[in-house]
Amino acid sequence: MCQNLHVEVIPHRLNGEIDMPKGRSKFVCQLCGFQSEQWLGKCPECSAFNSFVEEIVGEAKAEKRREREAVCVAEPLGEIALKKLNRILIGIDEVDRVLGGGVVRGSAILVGGEPGIGKSTLMLQVLNSATSDGKHRAVYVAAEESMEQIALRAERLGISSSNIFVLSDVDVTLVCEEIERLKPLVVAVDSIQAMLHPDLASAPGSVSQVRECASLLVRTAKGIGTSIFLVGHVTKEGLIAGPKVLEHIVDAVLYLEGDQNYALRILRAVKNRFGPVGEIGVFKMSEGGLEPIPNPSEHLLSHSSVNVSGSVVGAVIEGRRPLLLEIQALVAPTYFGAPRRLVTGMDYNRACMLIAVLERRTRIRLSDQDVYVNVAGGIRVSEPAIDLPAAIAIASSRYDAIIPKDMAAFGEVGLGGEVRPVPLPERRLKELSKLGFKKCLGPAYAEGLRIDGEIEYVPVKHVTDAISMLIKFDLKSHHNEGD
Ligand code: TYD
Ligand code: MG
Repeated sequence: MCQNLHVEVIPHRLNGEIDMPKGRSKFVCQLCGFQSEQWLGKCPECSAFNSFVEEIVGEAKAEKRREREAVCVAEPLGEIALKKLNRILIGIDEVDRVLGGGVVRGSAILVGGEPGIGKSTLMLQVLNSATSDGKHRAVYVAAEESMEQIALRAERLGISSSNIFVLSDVDVTLVCEEIERLKPLVVAVDSIQAMLHPDLASAPGSVSQVRECASLLVRTAKGIGTSIFLVGHVTKEGLIAGPKVLEHIVDAVLYLEGDQNYALRILRAVKNRFGPVGEIGVFKMSEGGLEPIPNPSEHLLSHSSVNVSGSVVGAVIEGRRPLLLEIQALVAPTYFGAPRRLVTGMDYNRACMLIAVLERRTRIRLSDQDVYVNVAGGIRVSEPAIDLPAAIAIASSRYDAIIPKDMAAFGEVGLGGEVRPVPLPERRLKELSKLGFKKCLGPAYAEGLRIDGEIEYVPVKHVTDAISMLIKFDLKSHHNEGD
C-alpha cells in the first residue's frame, strides 16, 4: 500500500513500460533518472542540486526504441565495408578546407560565435555558394530574424538566388516537415537556441529545448542526406550555449572568431568526425560580406610597423597552416605603483611568465617597467611557438634595438629560459622564405632541418643566445646560474 502511495504522490522512475500520453514531458534528474511533473531544485532521490532537465517521455520514446531495435544487428569489424564519404564542395575554399575537403552529405555542423561576428552572413554565403550550380536547393531557417531582415542582408551580399528558401518559423516539427518536403542539399538553422519543440513546456534556449530540437533536426537531415548547419550562440565564457550534449549530436563544431574592432575572422574546427581538428579558414569582413583570405600571412604582415624597436615577426602554426604575424612589445618605465602588464593576442599568463624568465634568466630588468604586448591584426595565438618572438620583442623594446625586417623567430621558451622545439619547423620556414624572409631564429632540432628556399636558420639553445645575437648590449650569460 505504501508502495502505491509512493507511486501516486511522488513521481516515479522511468522504466520504459509506463504508458504516458504522447508528447508528455517530464522533468528527469540527470544523475539518477528520478522523474517529476515539475522542476525541482533538489532531487528527492539522490539529493543532487539543479539536476532536473525537461525531457519528452512516454509513447514517443518507446516508439523510437522499437524502431532502433528493428535495425540493431552487430557486424564483425573486419567485415564492415568502408563507404566512401560523399562530400559536397561548398565552393568557398576556406570553408571547405576547415570541413576537411567539403561538407559530408547528411552531416551536422554546429557553428558557434559571438553575436555580431558574422555567423548569419557566413551561413547565407555558404548556402548561396552551395546552390550556385542552380541544380540544388538550400533552406535558411530564420528563427531569430524576420524574412525581411534576411532579404536585406542578402541584398547587401548581392545574393538573390531563387534556390534558397527562407523559412521564418521556430516550431521545429513544422520546420522538419518543410525540410523533408523540399529535400534541400544544405540547411542552415539560425539559431538553434531560438527553435522550439511544442512538446516541451520550457522556454526556447533551455537545455531540453536545444537538445530535443537539435536531435530532431539532425535526424531529419540525416534521413534525407541533407547537410545541416546549426548556428549556436556562445556564452560569456566563450562556450556554445546549451548542453554539452549538443556537441555530441553533431559531427563537426566550428567556431567563428575575431575581434569586433578588426576585419579579420577565423573559422576554426574544434571537432570534426570527418576531418582534422584545429584547421582554420581565414576571412575578412568587408562591405560585401566575408571575403576569404587565401594568403593570411601576407595580409597580417601588410601593415607591419616600419623600423621601430619592439617589433618581431613570429611564425606560428594554426591547424596545419603556418601564419606569420607581427608581435609588438612596448616597455616603458613605471612611474607610479606596481608595473603594468597588458597583453592582447596571446595568453596573459604566458606573457607574464616570459617577463619573469627574461628578468631572472637574462637579467633584463623589467620589474620597474610597464610591459605591453600585442599581436597585430586582431588575431589570438595560443601556440607556444610565439614565446621566442615575444621574448625578443620585449628585449628589443627594453633596449630600443631594432630587429631587422627580414628576420623572424619561433620556439617555445621554458622556465629555465631554454628554447624548446615546436612541431612543423620546415613548414614555418617555407612560409617565411616564400614571403622573402632571410633569417630565422628557432630551437635546435637534433635530426636537423631540410630547408627549401633561401633562408638561413639559426638554432638557439637559450633565450639569452637569441637576444645577445640580435641586440648588442652587455648581456652576461646567466642561464646556468642558480639552476
Ligand atoms: P551577422 O552575420 O549578423 O552576425 P551574427 O549572425 O554572428 O550575429 O553580421 C554582423 C556584422 O557584420 C554586422 O555588424 C555588420 C557586419 N557586416 C558587414 O560588415 N558586411 C556585410 O556584408 C554584412 C552582411 C555584415
Ligand atoms: Mg545572426
